[in-house]
Amino acid sequence: MSNTHYRSVFTPATAEQRKENFEDYWIFTQQHGGELLEAEQDLLKKRARLEHFQNNPVKLRTPLANPEAFYRNYVEMVDDPATLDKMTLMLTGIYKFARHEWVGIKGAWDAVPDMANSHTLQEKISRVHLAEEFCHVRLFDEMLKTCGLDKVEWVPLSPWKEKMYEQFPKVPWFLMDTPAFVTELMGVTFYFHLHKLFDEVLADEPEVRDRLKELLDEITIDEIAHVGQRRNFIGNIGIKVSKMLVAPFYTLFFNDIPEVGRLFDVKQMIQDGQTFDFTNVPDYMMERSWIPSYCKA
Ligand SMILES: [Fe+2]
Ligand SMILES: [Fe+2]
Repeated sequence: MSNTHYRSVFTPATAEQRKENFEDYWIFTQQHGGELLEAEQDLLKKRARLEHFQNNPVKLRTPLANPEAFYRNYVEMVDDPATLDKMTLMLTGIYKFARHEWVGIKGAWDAVPDMANSHTLQEKISRVHLAEEFCHVRLFDEMLKTCGLDKVEWVPLSPWKEKMYEQFPKVPWFLMDTPAFVTELMGVTFYFHLHKLFDEVLADEPEVRDRLKELLDEITIDEIAHVGQRRNFIGNIGIKVSKMLVAPFYTLFFNDIPEVGRLFDVKQMIQDGQTFDFTNVPDYMMERSWIPSYCKA
């Protein structure tokens, strides 16, 4: 951890500061992901990174004892979760979290302008942001493959939930910006807790533990930048509202994933969200990520 001090992510900012930060983020994001491959919902540098992992696979020393338990419960939990081992719960939990992300971005990708029709900096930033989210789903898929789960399918949510996610990007910006920011913050919180869980669940599988951490780091580094970027969309009233939304939002979302309450301390996650200020982000992540100028002390 560095000696740099940070301010709360909920620190207010002026319109002028936010304008400058959008310009700064746009410079960052272009070099970070590389060229946008719009037809493939991909980014050149991110694709190369995934290919590096795929071309250098690692495997569990001891294959999963009961992969059927994963396949039976990954889309919907059908067994009593108390009967499942932590490894299975962790993997089905990862899938369920990633699936929500995937459904959200699928709906948004079609609703927002493509790069050719993006005229403002915010629109361009949002297009690249969504492409990064598609890369995350591929990285999650690679995590599951690393654990020997190569028959995973990405299944849409129930029709009404899909509809809800499709409507989300069409909501007026001033209503959408706060939940969009809190969602990114929730992602970062979840990934930090998941990173710690790898140490516990994969203690006897050091190669896979380290690989899953590398894959997760690729995602977390993007998400830290997304937290700052989405925060930058929000004015001084909205940022107060965002802080109030952390507890109900995290609670609602994580209640929907039965694995989370069994594996993680949700109360601690809520507290981590409410007090988030970049201080606990390790230096190696910070070096590749982005934070708003007004969050630096
Ligand atoms: Fe993501
Ligand atoms: Fe994100």
